[in-house]
Amino acid sequence: MLKSGFTRTGAILVFLIPAVALSADAVTLKIIMQELRDNTMEIADGLLTDDLDRVVAGATGISNHPQISPEQVQLVAAELGSEMPAFKQLDTQVHDLSIEIRNAATAGDSGAASSSFQQMIDGCLGCHRTYKARVAAVLNPDAGLQ
Ligand code: HEC
Repeated sequence: MLKSGFTRTGAILVFLIPAVALSADAVTLKIIMQELRDNTMEIADGLLTDDLDRVVAGATGISNHPQISPEQVQLVAAELGSEMPAFKQLDTQVHDLSIEIRNAATAGDSGAASSSFQQMIDGCLGCHRTYKARVAAVLNPDAGLQ
């Protein structure tokens, strides 16, 4: 069980990361994904414990996630070619649903937040099913088969 103090600190860090990412040599997709996982866990935990502030915090972390570095964008685009718009569309879908979750939670509507959360998870898994292995292989060439 995560201690809420710890995850609150995590949520604050997520807000600081985009600024850091812009000044350092930009963030990798893997790190973005690890943050999305933390944000997703926070939303789930908030829904399960009726703590809508945590739902808002997690959803805001997802909608504000940093951009992938230009170098990695080029690698992904070279691999996916004409499928790049479909990949981007899945990212947009998850982004838009995170805003719906945040708006519903802000309005105190946990039912709507929960239903958008489930759709968002489908979006995460949809992209993973179709693209994760291919994209991971080009972004982590030294890691072997994933
Ligand atoms: C547009 C496609 C796409 C969407 C949408 C997407 N992912 Fe990913 N995800 C990827 C790819 C590609 C990787 C592999 C990255 C790598 O290994 O460099 C990945 C990897 C991951 C990983 C593994 C990171 C690791 O340490 O190996 C986690 C966790 C993850 N995603 C969580 C999520 C969550 C949670 C969501 C939804 C909120 C999400 N992803 C939405 C494409 C996507």
